[in-house]
Amino acid sequence: MELDLRALEEMYAYPSRSQPWIRTNFVTTLDGAAFASDGLSGSLGGPADTSVFALLRSLADVIIVGAGTARAEGYLPVKREEVDADLRLRLGLKPVPPIAVVSLSLNIPVAMIAPGQLVITTADASPARIDALSEQVDVIAVGEGEIDWIQVKSRLAAYGMNRVLCEGGPTLHGCLIEQDLVDELCLSIAPVMASGTAPRTAHGPSAVEHTMTLGHVLQVDELLLTRWVRSRSSSD
Ligand SMILES: NC(=O)c1ccc[n+]([C@@H]2O[C@H](COP(=O)([O-])OP(=O)(O)OC[C@H]3O[C@@H](n4cnc5c(N)ncnc54)[C@H](OP(=O)(O)O)[C@@H]3O)[C@@H](O)[C@H]2O)c1
Repeated sequence: MELDLRALEEMYAYPSRSQPWIRTNFVTTLDGAAFASDGLSGSLGGPADTSVFALLRSLADVIIVGAGTARAEGYLPVKREEVDADLRLRLGLKPVPPIAVVSLSLNIPVAMIAPGQLVITTADASPARIDALSEQVDVIAVGEGEIDWIQVKSRLAAYGMNRVLCEGGPTLHGCLIEQDLVDELCLSIAPVMASGTAPRTAHGPSAVEHTMTLGHVLQVDELLLTRWVRSRSSSD
């Protein structure tokens, strides 16, 4: 099946909200591995997953990523040619979404220490590192011992960054799931069995059971592009 990018824009449109909506995007093998034998996830989904990955970036105000993924995958700030300029103009978005690297150690890849980018960490992270990073990037340092995600969401809302895209990895995803902060999961299921030692797309110390509702499922050749929305009661 050919991808109709215009139709996909509507299928992946963010809901209109005045609060951040956290969408996570992952690819997995049939047996649940979050990366291929090269230790990276990019090769798993093929061209259709790559197209959706780019579309989701084009729709986002901000991309958050764990420092582990930023280091493993050699993250770089998003370039203008990597996103759909017309789409962003139509939606009233800035030309490119910044990337917010999440880290406790503040071992941030040098390429990500660039004006316009963000770092999310705790208030009790190394003051010297926070000071040094703050000269180049916007540092959101909230929470003691662990990041206070409610405060992170408030800060992102204050910046007008309500369309949040989380590109992983499994440690960050596990934390967001545990705290019931994932509003939507975009999951590509690749027609591959992997075994090996790769983790699932989320892990953490505590198991939870958060029900999701199917938004859509698309088949492109043997790849399944799925979208799941968190089912919350009105009191949530
Ligand atoms: N299948 C997929 O779609 C997909 C998507 C993304 C990544 N991946 C793969 O996942 C692997 C990386 O896994 P990972 O679990 O190491 O990824 P990760 O969650 O990106 O990185 C873990 C690191 O990020 C920081 N971090 C994450 N959550 C945090 C939190 N709640 N609070 C503070 N810091 C936090 C910490 O950095 P510090 O160590 O700096 O404190 C932590 O050590 C890579 O091989 C990548 O290719 C797969």
